[in-house]
Amino acid sequence: MTSIPEFMTTKHRECDEFFTDAEAAVAKADWSLALTKWQSFALELSKHFSQEEDTLFPKFEQATGMTSGPTQVMRMEHQQMRALVQDLDNALAAKNKDEYLGLSETLMVMMQQHNMKEEMMLYPMMDQNISDGEQIIEQFKTN
Ligand SMILES: [Fe+2]
Ligand SMILES: [Fe+2]
Repeated sequence: MTSIPEFMTTKHRECDEFFTDAEAAVAKADWSLALTKWQSFALELSKHFSQEEDTLFPKFEQATGMTSGPTQVMRMEHQQMRALVQDLDNALAAKNKDEYLGLSETLMVMMQQHNMKEEMMLYPMMDQNISDGEQIIEQFKTN
């Protein structure tokens, strides 16, 4: 059985890896590799955000009664990151290397700060407050 912090942190790392690979491929103007890595990143990130927004955040809010605290901040940050992902998607489609690398830097910083808050604070709090956390993670593994 896998805990919420363990599973979700591993997913952050997987996303980071696709993201870094995409950036390196763009830097070398290897557009087909960049597209493959970018698409894997975007898919994993979107799945991860949905697991948080549709399942883990509501569970946490129910368990703690904290509906306007950390989960609201995290939701807002997801929206900011989704907007950047869209911009990066456009830059990649246009094969605009400078634009892509600039946006990529911004998203990287935002993502690191966001993930750090989840890993240091929110996931451990979820682990303490959500009683069926391991069952939820088993569900996540199947989709
Ligand atoms: Fe998140
Ligand atoms: Fe996360």
